[in-house]
Amino acid sequence: MVCLGNICRSPLAEGILKNKIKEHGLDWEVSSAGTGAWHIGELPDSRSIRTAQQHGLDITDQRARQFTAADFKDYDLILAMDGSNYRNILQLDLDSQYEHKVNMILNYIDALKGQGVPDPYWDDDGFEKVYQMLDEACDALIEQEG
Ligand code: 4NP
Repeated sequence: MVCLGNICRSPLAEGILKNKIKEHGLDWEVSSAGTGAWHIGELPDSRSIRTAQQHGLDITDQRARQFTAADFKDYDLILAMDGSNYRNILQLDLDSQYEHKVNMILNYIDALKGQGVPDPYWDDDGFEKVYQMLDEACDALIEQEG
């Protein structure tokens, strides 16, 4: 799960998907990262922590890290939150080997294909909407890939 800062959207996506794979008894390794380096080592944004808590999820074990080319090898599926993240990820795919692994997460929802998860960083009210989008996308992801 990849966004820009790895403090708002992708930590929520990681927490939501980890919870669902546990419920479904799946043996998937899930992590998140940001394409940017500004927040490396930080906890998720307090508003993401609070939103997760309101849905019974604890994401305070997460620390932000930056997406690297090694992630192309380590993971089967790399899900960008928006089109900018998608392009930033593919810029690190220097030999154009891994495009087949990279997708945008909302492409799993027919009605939201091609759209990005809105960045809630500057919008305190955006976090619950982001949660709901990611919750639906992760259900669809498990249905299609699980
Ligand atoms: P995220 O949100 O990509 O969902 O983690 C952002 C977090 C921080 C910044 C931008 C977006 N920032 O510019 O620091």
